[in-house]
Amino acid sequence: MSNGMPEVKTPIFAANWKMNSGPTESRAFMRTFLARYARRPDRTVMFFPPALSLAAVRDSLKERADILVGVQNIHWEAKGAFTGENSAPIAKDAGATHALVGHSERRHVFGETDEQTAKKVAAAIGAGLFPMLCVGEKLDERERGETERVCVRQLRAGLSTLSNAQVATVIIAYEPVWAIGTGRTATPADASAVHVAIRAELRSIAGEHGGRLPILYGGSVNAQNVRALLDAEGVDGVLVGGASLDAEGWATIVRS
Ligand code: 13P
Repeated sequence: MSNGMPEVKTPIFAANWKMNSGPTESRAFMRTFLARYARRPDRTVMFFPPALSLAAVRDSLKERADILVGVQNIHWEAKGAFTGENSAPIAKDAGATHALVGHSERRHVFGETDEQTAKKVAAAIGAGLFPMLCVGEKLDERERGETERVCVRQLRAGLSTLSNAQVATVIIAYEPVWAIGTGRTATPADASAVHVAIRAELRSIAGEHGGRLPILYGGSVNAQNVRALLDAEGVDGVLVGGASLDAEGWATIVRS
């Protein structure tokens, strides 16, 4: 494992709990989930709980080193007077291996810019955390035929400070904004078309290093549609919000 990078097998099943599940609920979730999901060498499961629940999730995992834990957001500075924020070194010290960067809610609810995502990606890597860079178009952008242009812009910006070798440690999540929390999933064909375009762009950014990055799909993934999405060309895993909040439902999804 170079760079201290935890072994990540595809498909990747990543749970983004967003602002749900405190420590008590997280512990109860893990008890149920771990009883229903035995370690499998052919996939990777990751959790992105709220930062205050990270320790509860980590402690619950005990010897289950096959399951990885990350944070949903980091500040780009390592420390200082940034009330309410968490830095990459703090997240790493708390047991995170990964950090979501540029999630659509960060971009569109909290006004995070491409430039800020670039600084966060760099901060994560500088602290030894592995970024999961999220990209995706809004509905009006899709309707104007700008899907690829938006994703390429977000990718180029997010990865702009990295060497090719550093790019190789990033995971990409394609999350069309119109599919998030709406019950309106991209069809496997639509997801695949964007994943293939993203992979081509990654190759042009970082050569063979770029071509190998896992690209996850996110947006209204559930137990019914997950298999078809994973079978689509270029889809290396899923990033799941709502359907990852129920322990039994999430266990069903990760066993698909
Ligand atoms: P939903 O699965 O609730 O649509 O959320 C997707 C998402 O934003 C995961 O990061």
